[in-house]
Amino acid sequence: MILARSWIVVGATIAVFAASVLISVGLAPAAPAERAAPLAIDGPAAARPWIRYGGWPNRDTSKFNSLSAIVSPPPPKAPRKIATPLGGDLPGNVGPDLSEIGKAGRDDEWLFNYIYDARVYNPETVMPPWGTHGLLSDSEIGDIVAFLKTLAKPAPFKSALDDPTRRPPPSEQRDNLDPMINPAMWAIEERAPALWNAAGPAGAACVSCHATPEQAFKTWAATMPRWEPRLGKVLGVEEFVARHAKATTGQDWLMESEENIALSTYLRYVANGAPIIVDLDSAPAKAAYERGEALSSRKIGALNFSCADCHSADKGAQKWIRGQWLGELRGQLDHFPTWRTSQQSTWDIRKRFQWCQVAIWADDLPPDASEYGDLELYLAAQNAGQKLSVPGIRH
Ligand code: HEC
Ligand code: HEC
Repeated sequence: MILARSWIVVGATIAVFAASVLISVGLAPAAPAERAAPLAIDGPAAARPWIRYGGWPNRDTSKFNSLSAIVSPPPPKAPRKIATPLGGDLPGNVGPDLSEIGKAGRDDEWLFNYIYDARVYNPETVMPPWGTHGLLSDSEIGDIVAFLKTLAKPAPFKSALDDPTRRPPPSEQRDNLDPMINPAMWAIEERAPALWNAAGPAGAACVSCHATPEQAFKTWAATMPRWEPRLGKVLGVEEFVARHAKATTGQDWLMESEENIALSTYLRYVANGAPIIVDLDSAPAKAAYERGEALSSRKIGALNFSCADCHSADKGAQKWIRGQWLGELRGQLDHFPTWRTSQQSTWDIRKRFQWCQVAIWADDLPPDASEYGDLELYLAAQNAGQKLSVPGIRH
């Protein structure tokens, strides 16, 4: 292994130090052996208690499913009886193209129940259960039904841009590796090299053991995340950086810290062009993949959406949600961490996961949650073969 060479350069002191944190190090192995990177195993790799980022919505969504808990109220067993006909005074606008729903021959009770909780008619619906989840009151739903019944003409679109079926999908044309264009390149040019050379409380710096990261880690980041038996979970680049830095240099570079994002961006950058490879050979890795797949179709939050509802090709993907285009899972990983112009900051993949939960009124999890590891492994498998191009730049 390439690193075995830098190992010799390090010399006895650090080798002894490292041996004390290694889980298993063979003594002077005769043949080059897989050497496990030291990891601090104990404790979390992100802040606890996890506190949501400043400026993010802080409504209480603890009564609804998250990726770690199933707590949402169950769907109704039967449609509710209502006093027909419904009257109302509130114009509303909800759901897909309902511009001619008023002529569709639906009675009030059916419309009411469809809005209250469409699962009573269609268990596969992607419509939020407005009534069951307490998002709309009975009288608000009644008002919406009354409004829907007035709709009898196709919605007019002023231009192709107004019409979601004709609006062209966005395409990202900015050069993500141009430092004049992508502010995240600062991590590559300035921040990560400085951190790489900074000795931590244990006396060592990354450079003490890895003198030539561009050579040593040419493909490593493209093989992450992967099942890590010592932790009993899927380990991504960011959690690796936190635990490996702690074990080798003594630095506390927790996930989502500025240092962690800079180094994680850098480690992926040096692997740019390498195709994403996912190791699903072992039974625990396969099981993690299957958990990830199940999580991606778990309905969560007050709005009761799963990742698949928005990002799978047979559901929401390749469509518009309000002004935002919904991408498919493929193409969603190769550019992370990515600069977000709208947020003026670099987001790693776990922060993106968190936002896709908070946005549908679901509790987010700490970035090192094992559920995110499973989900990231599943996402990586959908992106196998895609070449890393980091840092990305997106809206
Ligand atoms: C005391 C020595 C030491 C220090 C300091 C050190 N590492 Fe390592 N690192 C290792 C060893 C040992 C491995 C296992 C590599 C091998 O021989 O395959 C490793 C592996 C890695 C790998 C590849 C992981 C893998 O699973 O193969 C990365 C990436 C890495 N280190 C990054 C860093 C970064 C970033 C820092 C600074 C925070 C750092 N290292 C500090 C010893 C060290
Ligand atoms: C209500 C719809 C919705 C749901 C549900 C949803 N997302 Fe998203 N997601 C979006 C939107 C909108 C964007 C930004 C536009 C885009 O790039 O697709 C996005 C972006 C992303 C991206 C980044 C895409 C990129 O190329 O930069 C990832 C990764 C992602 N979502 C993963 C998830 C995961 C995992 C889940 C489930 C925990 C999830 N999303 C649930 C709407 C959703």
